[in-house]
Amino acid sequence: MQDFQRVIDVADVPDPGKTLVEVDGEMIALFHVGEAWYALDDVCTHDGGPLADGELRDYKIACPRHGAKFDIRSGAALTMPAVRPTRAHEVKVDDGGVWVRLRDQPLAQGPSAHATPVSAAAATVAADSPSPVTPETAPTGSPPAPSGPLCEDSVRELLKEVKDPELFVNIVDLGLIYGVTITPAADDATKQHVAVDMTMTSPACPAGPQLISDTKRVVNQRPDVAAVEVRIVMDPPWTPDRMTEAARDQLGIF
Ligand code: FES
Repeated sequence: MQDFQRVIDVADVPDPGKTLVEVDGEMIALFHVGEAWYALDDVCTHDGGPLADGELRDYKIACPRHGAKFDIRSGAALTMPAVRPTRAHEVKVDDGGVWVRLRDQPLAQGPSAHATPVSAAAATVAADSPSPVTPETAPTGSPPAPSGPLCEDSVRELLKEVKDPELFVNIVDLGLIYGVTITPAADDATKQHVAVDMTMTSPACPAGPQLISDTKRVVNQRPDVAAVEVRIVMDPPWTPDRMTEAARDQLGIF
């Protein structure tokens, strides 16, 4: 284990306050609240946002990029879109200075600790590369497609079957669906072409490929659908404001 390193004078950080320090070449967000000091990696586990630039309130730091909150005492991810903890480090005060010793692992475990990691390279979804139109068949055991006319509302109902694999909330309630366009299929007058405009919580969302695949699968359950196109839209960017009340309740966001 590494030794504690003196990073700053106590008098140089207001109470409450925060600052950015460097320890062993790593950028660390340092927090001062009352008599206590805390240190976290300056990295939001959602998409790398700089935590030291966020707003500090009630032992919580809010990522300035998409608003995820972390507990500064443990590094635990408290609100989406972050679901994994960031590393919390040891801090002590001695001889008028603040000293930090880095930990190797996060202290806290987020709700997705059991989730299977996906390599970033394989999972990155390019914002300017819409997925091809690919007819897909529903796997054995899928629920039957609903009856009724094919329209935006019925497609959105189907899309509620698609859940973010880390948050366990459906993509409609998360606010990821920007639009649904239905047009006659070019080569079959009895069927329709469905285009779904979908965003991600970040450009490199690791769940992106799975969400696209599941979206195509559930809409293709309908016999009147010829093909499904998923168009990834990153502008305007997703924000937590797009979530429904149901999603907020599910995630414990108030
Ligand atoms: S990078 Fe921090 S919430 Fe997205």
